[in-house]
Amino acid sequence: MEDRFILDEKTIQEKVQEIARQIEKDYEGQEVIFVGVLKGAFIFLADLVRKIEKVDVLIDFVKVSSYGASTETSGVVRLDFDTTMNLEGKHVILVEDILDTGLTLKYLKELLEKKNPLSLKIAVLLDKFERRKVDIEADYVGFKVPDKFLVGYGLDYAEKYRNIPYVMELKE
Ligand code: IMP
Ligand code: MG
Repeated sequence: MEDRFILDEKTIQEKVQEIARQIEKDYEGQEVIFVGVLKGAFIFLADLVRKIEKVDVLIDFVKVSSYGASTETSGVVRLDFDTTMNLEGKHVILVEDILDTGLTLKYLKELLEKKNPLSLKIAVLLDKFERRKVDIEADYVGFKVPDKFLVGYGLDYAEKYRNIPYVMELKE
């Protein structure tokens, strides 16, 4: 019997819709810069912003690396490239695929806070809450997930599987 952890396409889309509604409620009529964390967040970000109508959506990206071709984080976050827009005085939502140890988002939160945004929140599709090493939580969370290595919907293993339209546990 297959006991692989899976979040199917419909379940994900419904949750992304819910997060979009919440963001619309929180920022209705205002402008928000969505900062996607490349590469993993590109699918979640693309789906999320297309479900938002009542907010003026602007988009920017940052890129970090920490993993390399392994399933264990190296613990060192390297900034490959920074935002290109001026975030000063703007509402900003940092969008990431998964919150794991928290090292990446803690690093990015501190990086973006230095740019003096009017507000800064974090949206993640997945939260591997059992793995947290540093004190950081997201403001918008799609799913709390078990401590398993997940791929699909932007998440990769050695750069593969990002295009799978659902999330599944990768088993050796
Ligand atoms: P953190 O810094 O440990 O929170 O790790 C966050 C980053 O690790 C995410 O942006 C993902 O790229 C990657 N990551 C964490 N867990 C997984 C997973 O289960 N599958 C694929 N990538 C993951
Ligand atoms: Mg990754």
